[in-house]
Amino acid sequence: MNIKKRYKKTDLIKFAFKVLKKVGLNNLNSKTVANLIVRADERGVWSHGIVRLPIYIKRIEKKSAKINPILKFKKITNNIFHLSGDNGLGYIAANEGIKKCVSLAKKNGIGLVGISESNHFGMAANYLEIAAKNKCIAWVFTNASKALPPHGAMAPFFGTSPFAFGCPTKKINKPFILDMASSSVARGKLKFAAQNNIKIPFGYALDKFGKPTNDGAKAFKGIMLPFGGMKGAGLSWMMDIVAGIFTGANHSGKVKNAINDFSGASNVGHLMICLRTDLFQSHTNFIKKIEFGIKEVKKLKKAKGFKKILHPGEPEFNNQNVNSKKGILLSKETIKELEKLSKKYDVRSPFKV
Ligand SMILES: NC(=O)c1ccc[n+]([C@@H]2O[C@H](COP(=O)([O-])OP(=O)(O)OC[C@H]3O[C@@H](n4cnc5c(N)ncnc54)[C@H](O)[C@@H]3O)[C@@H](O)[C@H]2O)c1
Repeated sequence: MNIKKRYKKTDLIKFAFKVLKKVGLNNLNSKTVANLIVRADERGVWSHGIVRLPIYIKRIEKKSAKINPILKFKKITNNIFHLSGDNGLGYIAANEGIKKCVSLAKKNGIGLVGISESNHFGMAANYLEIAAKNKCIAWVFTNASKALPPHGAMAPFFGTSPFAFGCPTKKINKPFILDMASSSVARGKLKFAAQNNIKIPFGYALDKFGKPTNDGAKAFKGIMLPFGGMKGAGLSWMMDIVAGIFTGANHSGKVKNAINDFSGASNVGHLMICLRTDLFQSHTNFIKKIEFGIKEVKKLKKAKGFKKILHPGEPEFNNQNVNSKKGILLSKETIKELEKLSKKYDVRSPFKV
């Protein structure tokens, strides 16, 4: 990353909160969105952190997303609810959705919430963390605007939609979190490579002529590739079915691009599933077994070049330990964009370019 400086998490949250308030979000919505955005930076998932604030603000300015949506839950059965996000920022609907899903699981063992009329909800791990803290195993799915080609196609059609699964471990702040885009790399990271003339591994993207490339800029103008060939392509299609078609949201290439299509609501869909960990044994036993598995895995002979074996979610836990003490790293480009917001909305900024 082209680093300028580290910033305190609380300063970034305060800045995002104030800008969101200035564009009209109420206190609660501003707080929710600011906290969830900066949580991504704290975990080192910078591609889905405060770098995205300007684009969310732009969607609101262009009236393609609502400032304070009126969320509506509809009961389907005792443990299944549908939520209409009323075209508010995705963070607002997803945050309410996961809270509902957890409460359903606590009461009935399993909870399922389908969400439509939402927007980009950022880092999926945010919602898994809430579920894991509440002793739930969870899956959180979303669809997204077209970015990846179905296997064999030369045109983007499905989203980079992350596959996201989480469950608690012994340490409440260190859950098992598998949260991975169905693309070989997050689009934000590709944009960064393009802006900074950075080489990328072959296999991440094709250039606009369909040729494999390791040039960040050519890749950004070309077409991103799913991870694992037809397997990642299949997952991103699956996400469009479960989070898009199933929930009643847009699907099949119709989710509007959050960054460059302001012609109306994106109508992104999310699907959340929570299971109580104690359904078939006590929570304590579940945790003991998780810890046993992690310990056994860590004892395995390491592959060449590896000093440690980590469980999914552990790299981000380690990032969080560093970032919460030293501060969050922001690139020059991000700081410049945030400075523009600071001037436009007359919000005191912690940044100096
Ligand atoms: N809302 C959306 O539409 C959308 C779309 C795409 C991506 N995203 C978000 O982008 C973020 C980044 O996705 P990504 O695919 O670039 O993530 P990534 O490649 O950095 O990590 C993917 C997963 O691999 C695990 N991992 C990484 N290194 C590991 C190691 N050494 N050992 C064991 N496990 C390891 C991580 O804990 C994580 O669970 C995610 O938070 C995702 O939710 C959101």
